[in-house]
Amino acid sequence: MGTLNNRKVAVIGCGFVGAASAFAIMESGLFSEMVLIDMNTDKAEGEALDISHGLPFSKPMQIYAGDYKDISDAAVIVVTAGAGQKPGETRLDLVKKNVSIFKSIIPQISEVNKDAIMLIVANPVDILTYTAWKLSGYPENRVFGSGTTLDTARLKYLLGQHLDVDSRSVHAFIVGEHGDSEIAVWSSANVSGIPINRFCEMRGHFHHEEAMQRIAEDVKNSAYEIINKKGATYYGIAMSVRRILEAIIRDEKTILPISSIQHDNHGVSGIAFSMPAIVGKNGVEATVPISLSPDEEKALKESASTLQKVIDDVF
Ligand SMILES: NC(=O)c1ccc[n+]([C@@H]2O[C@H](COP(=O)([O-])OP(=O)(O)OC[C@H]3O[C@@H](n4cnc5c(N)ncnc54)[C@H](O)[C@@H]3O)[C@@H](O)[C@H]2O)c1
Repeated sequence: MGTLNNRKVAVIGCGFVGAASAFAIMESGLFSEMVLIDMNTDKAEGEALDISHGLPFSKPMQIYAGDYKDISDAAVIVVTAGAGQKPGETRLDLVKKNVSIFKSIIPQISEVNKDAIMLIVANPVDILTYTAWKLSGYPENRVFGSGTTLDTARLKYLLGQHLDVDSRSVHAFIVGEHGDSEIAVWSSANVSGIPINRFCEMRGHFHHEEAMQRIAEDVKNSAYEIINKKGATYYGIAMSVRRILEAIIRDEKTILPISSIQHDNHGVSGIAFSMPAIVGKNGVEATVPISLSPDEEKALKESASTLQKVIDDVF
């Protein structure tokens, strides 16, 4: 294994999510080389050509369809390959199909590259992060999932709309499973340091319980709604992937709610789920012990036990 090229990224799986992520990565200007891999080689080649034709309007880079031997020096490998949810399916329904796809993909990655950072995006992302960690032999800090980065963006967006304020000024997290048992952490939510309920009142909103429940449900059901309407979700996750890669490549040490293997985090150990973590050039540098209300802590433990049951079933 040679040295890594910090300007090189690989995207495995070029369906809706992989292609949109590749486009967002091209637009980011973070990399000078991008390899696209898909079992459907025509799809990977078509996406590489199509995205390359935007380069005269962006920044120069090499984008090509390749094979696993082409990723031996990639600094970051993004794995989006796997079946997506059909209308009515939950993310956990995908587990058997996608674990078996990972059993074919992950060993092919670690055979050629043991030093990259592996970002898991395919669903159920927490279970597949655990699977990738087990199968790859990578250390925990270098294999993690996009987790609730997208759900947190959805929460910030909806709160921004509700409060008529820039969503980037909203500080709030979704934690736990990227799925039906996820938790909105209202106890520490704030808008630029002002506790969320006080900011709501400043903006003329007083029915806090009702609004919190409605917004958390809307976040949770976003993917179902989009899948019912257009068949798949991909732009929001593509922007989340771009943001996570930016934190890694620029060594930003940004706090993002990615999914990683936990160690006694609110009593949860040995599974992957999302908690805020510092993300930089070494991947996950540390998890941030976010404080939770007793109800949030109880919900987090339930979320963890849902995931643990799936892991016990699969492994
Ligand atoms: N983490 C998130 O927030 C998030 C958001 C949206 C979607 N997703 C997930 O991302 C995954 C991909 O979704 P999509 O809409 O792009 O699906 P898709 O069906 O459009 O694409 C999947 C791609 O994977 C490829 N593939 C399958 N098996 C492969 C293998 N063994 N090797 C190489 N390529 C293989 C397929 O050929 C296909 O092109 C799904 O699991 C979906 O649930 C995650």
